[in-house]
Formats: sequence, structure tokens, C-alpha cells
Amino acid sequence: MGCGESKETKNDDNSKIKVKKEEEKKEQSKEYEIKICLLGDVSVGKTSIASRFCKNSFNENYINTIGGAYQQQNIILNNGAKIKLHIWDTSGQDRFRSMTSLYYRDAQVAILTYDVTNLQTLDSLNYWLSELKDKVEIDNMVLCLAGNKNDSDAGEKKVSTARGKEFAEEHNMIFFETSAKTGAGVKELFQAIATKEYELLTKNSLY
Ligand code: GTP
Repeated sequence: MGCGESKETKNDDNSKIKVKKEEEKKEQSKEYEIKICLLGDVSVGKTSIASRFCKNSFNENYINTIGGAYQQQNIILNNGAKIKLHIWDTSGQDRFRSMTSLYYRDAQVAILTYDVTNLQTLDSLNYWLSELKDKVEIDNMVLCLAGNKNDSDAGEKKVSTARGKEFAEEHNMIFFETSAKTGAGVKELFQAIATKEYELLTKNSLY
């Protein structure tokens, strides 16, 4: 009796593994697409975050974004699903503000970015949140907070990790501190976004 039960359990386990493998194979042939936009003050490092993630490159020199710029990169999730990330980074300059909504209007994800060495840039994100609330269905969006320039070369840190976390929790955001310069936290941020969006698109939990 005992032996019979353990054989059945083994068969059960084998068929579960088979189903899981078949599901993974099915997922490997699928491609999901996500539109992401980066918002925030001038020079917080929106373009640099996108370039670090998409090209693994970093430019020390500041070149202001005219309106918006596009880059893309793919992520393969643990179950084999391929996620294509379409990333729009927008200019933080006031003169382009009327255009910015063109970039975030149909985005599924917004990464609100501040510079950890400049507290004003975190306060400014209240503006971007009210803009989003005004112009899009914010409840349908995945919101992220990126505290960028989290490296010693950027100068003294003025926004503590705890302060960033508090802002993120208040607004139900995924939170990462990043450095586009060293790459710290950048891949992790986009990986978390891809995982969250995949779960929303498929209603499957990856964990
Ligand atoms: P706008 O498009 O004009 O709004 O600026 P942005 O937010 O896209 O900033 P950008 O990526 O152009 O970076 C502005 C400056 O900050 C550049 O000189 C970058 O080299 C520098 N920078 C960006 N990210 C980091 C970082 O993580 N660490 C350090 N130390 N510098 C950074």
C-alpha cells in the first residue's frame, strides 16, 4: 500500500514536471512587448539609465534630450518568455513639457527618476505624478521609482534610501536605487518591471 502510494506520487510529480516543461516550451516561443517611459527632472540620468540597460554604455558628458529618445532591449524571463522592452526617455526641460505626454500616453510602465544627490529632484516627482494622474489611467500603469546616481562619483548623497523607499511605498511603486555610471541596480530594475508586467499580462506568477 505504502509502496503503491509512493509510485503514484512519483507519477504525479513526473506529470507535473512534464506539464511545467511543456508550459516553458510554449512560453519560449512567445514574445511580449512593453512600453516604458522615463520621467523626471533635467539631468537626473534618464537617458543614461536607458543607455546602460540597452547598450551597456555610459557617457560622462551631458547631452540634453530633445523631446524624447527611443531605445530597446529584450529580457528573457526564468520560464523562457521573451519580453521586448520599448524604452522612451523624455526630456526634463520645461520647454518640452507639452510634448512629453506623447511619450507616456500609451506606456504600460513609468519610471519616475530622481538624482540621489539632489533632493529637489525627488520633490519634483510630485509634478510628474499629478501629470500622469491627469492624462492617463494611472491605476492601469506599473509605476517605478529610480533613485539614480547612487555612486560615490556623483557627490554627496542627499536623499536617503529610507526616504526613497517611503516615497515609493506611498505611491505603490517598485523602487530601486541605480547608478547608470556603474550599472548597479539598472538590470535589476528592468528585470523587476518585466516580471511584474509579465504577471499582469498572463496572470501567471513566476514565483
Ligand atoms: P535630460 O534628457 O536633459 O532631461 O537629462 P537626463 O535625465 O536624460 O540625464 P542624462 O542621462 O543626460 O545625464 C545627465 C548627466 O548626469 C550626464 O553628465 C551623465 O553622465 C550624468 N549621469 C547620469 N547618470 C549618472 C550616474 O548614475 N552617476 C553619475 N555619477 N553621473 C550620472
